[in-house]
Amino acid sequence: MVGTDIQVAIQYLQQGELVAIPTETVYGLAANAFNADAVTKIYKAKNRPSFNPLIIHTNSLEKLKGWGLSLPEDMLKLAAHFSPGPLTYVIPKSERIPDIVTAGTDAVAVRIPQHQLTLQLLEQLDFPVAAPSANPSGFVSPTNAWHVSEQMGDKIAYILNGGSCEVGVESTIISFLESPPAILRHGGTSIEAIEAVIGKVTDKPGEASGRIVTDNPVAPGQLARHYATKHQLIHGDPKKYFNYFPPERIGIIAFSAIYGELPARNQVVLSHSRNLDEAAQNLFAAMRTIDTYDIDVILAEKFPDQGLGRAINDRLKRASVPEA
Ligand code: TXA
Ligand code: MG
Repeated sequence: MVGTDIQVAIQYLQQGELVAIPTETVYGLAANAFNADAVTKIYKAKNRPSFNPLIIHTNSLEKLKGWGLSLPEDMLKLAAHFSPGPLTYVIPKSERIPDIVTAGTDAVAVRIPQHQLTLQLLEQLDFPVAAPSANPSGFVSPTNAWHVSEQMGDKIAYILNGGSCEVGVESTIISFLESPPAILRHGGTSIEAIEAVIGKVTDKPGEASGRIVTDNPVAPGQLARHYATKHQLIHGDPKKYFNYFPPERIGIIAFSAIYGELPARNQVVLSHSRNLDEAAQNLFAAMRTIDTYDIDVILAEKFPDQGLGRAINDRLKRASVPEA
């Protein structure tokens, strides 16, 4: 069922059912984080490996404290700027957080999402919701309610429809288990913006933060197969690959350029005005669209390695892993 009724969504969550929720990044597949049976349903519905922990979502720092979590000083500084927003904090877990949420590790990832419907929903809950992206494990994250319905509709009690996601890539994840704090995943909040608030961070996490487990593993073999797009995706300068495929069999994901050598119909431009925020917003929908074209390969440009460009390059690189 799909709709915009927060009360219906709340009832299902209270009953331990799965509800898809809109956020500014991507849609989440939510369950009561304090109900281990409900959280188990998330892993099942996504076919997600049980060793991959979940982010918990709530609407306030006070609630997090009430659940026994101590919030590091730098986290509080960042939260003042970026929460609600596309930033997730990894901090030591408390007793109150079930092991199934953290996949047995001592740390929990927390986020306050920026979306009016979902904030209203979270305000009315006395528990956090665990919510990974609402896609089957290994696929592209959903950025509208239809994406969710297409892939997961039969496994979810209710899809709360909050329109298209404004940021379009997942949250940035920062770990406070080491000093300086470590970026575990590039996402909707840029490193530049984070460093402007708390100074230098590292994007090479050490042992203390553990290894982030991704749906789309960097190295083939981490999971059996990668599914991000059905068609093979090559991430690099498209021109280098033009000679290997017939022009009409090539699909392009470009920042702003149209390649005159190829038919225009198979080319997707992410931002005509070369705006990286707009490009990130359009990325996942573009990957879904281009995958429906009658082509043999997707060639995706490398984006400038700054701001949201880092998150875009990261997602394209993961999608380009050859099948294991
Ligand atoms: O924007 C987002 O973060 C979206 C929306 C729905 O909030 N959520 C999302 O969740 O992207 P998911 O599960 O698709 O990706 C979360 C990532 C996973 O790669 C997981 O391994 C990592 O966060 N993660 C979760 N808990 C962690 C923890 N305690 N320590 C380290 N990494 C963690
Ligand atoms: Mg995901």
